[in-house]
Amino acid sequence: MTVLGIESSCDETSVAVIKNGELTSNLISSQLFHNKFGGVVPELSSRAHIQKIVPLLKQSIEESSISKEEIDCICATAGPGLIGALLVGFTFGKGLAVSLNKPFIPVNHIEGHLFSGFLSKEKPEYPFLSLVVSGGHTILFYVKSPVELIKLGSTVDDAAGEAFDKVSKMLGFGYPGGPKIQKHAELGDANKILFPVADLKKPFHFSFSGLKTAVLRYIQSKGSDVTEISEDEKNDIAASFQYAVIKALIIETGKAAKEFPVKSLVLAGGVAANSVLRNSFIELGNKLNIKTVIPAFQFCGDNAAMIAYRGYTLFNEGLSFPIDYKPYAGFKSEYLSF
Ligand code: KG4
Ligand code: ZN
Repeated sequence: MTVLGIESSCDETSVAVIKNGELTSNLISSQLFHNKFGGVVPELSSRAHIQKIVPLLKQSIEESSISKEEIDCICATAGPGLIGALLVGFTFGKGLAVSLNKPFIPVNHIEGHLFSGFLSKEKPEYPFLSLVVSGGHTILFYVKSPVELIKLGSTVDDAAGEAFDKVSKMLGFGYPGGPKIQKHAELGDANKILFPVADLKKPFHFSFSGLKTAVLRYIQSKGSDVTEISEDEKNDIAASFQYAVIKALIIETGKAAKEFPVKSLVLAGGVAANSVLRNSFIELGNKLNIKTVIPAFQFCGDNAAMIAYRGYTLFNEGLSFPIDYKPYAGFKSEYLSF
């Protein structure tokens, strides 16, 4: 069984091959040129995907020592994401599937992250909790089977990654903010400033907008411009902000783990690359005596391996999709039960 995965929802073009359950290729081309704009420029993203998709497919097939005729099923991200960017990988995958007369599986990007724990050596066991923390989403899922997902809660405003990106911008560190905040936080004191951690009435929900405003007010209280703040103080702000985000994520995951009988805790999405969050998540699992699964760094950010894997689980469930299935920009999932 050979599965091809294609991801193009935002600023990474990625192609992956899973052959007989083994990942044989996971090529990721990141569009670093967006950094100078301080965020992703949708039209430029679509154009870059068009340039990269064919060379990546060729390389991925070569690396996997297969011919394209040997591909049994083609999976591509259907959404959520930038619609122009999604259309590139999605229509390319669909065209390839039609030309090879093979099934085409549209994959939800968030579900890709959600199941990325299965790309680890140590696999999650059902039922499990999966905390997906990315640039656009922060969602806590209770997963009973590949097709039974229960959304326990999500952010009511900014996503965790979005908060990292915005605070990084405020501090003049640039884009993407997550890795930059983490680097500065390593040099700062997380206990220096007590930023608020939202405690919402709705269980398992998150809010990072108040925290973001608190950081802004703190910066403003120190002078008229961020350049007036010393590097040491910026590092303390980064560390204290990071601490508050992680605290919120860990508290709600801990609450859910106590309420739902789970065998594993999974952390996924771009923010899962954060080393302090990874360590806090493992600590939580140890405390509750539940196995934790956190994908390797290459599977945290956007990648096609998770898309191929998720598509493969749907294919294994015997599911098929109409060829006129359309990509979508917002969040939706066929497998959610509330
Ligand atoms: O999953 P992802 O690659 O793309 C989306 O689906 O959104 O997540 C990207 C997000 C960005 O907001 C980025 O700042 C954040 O993940 N991120 C991090 C780290 N590395 C990436 N956030 C915190 N710490 C990191 N080390
Ligand atoms: Zn993502």
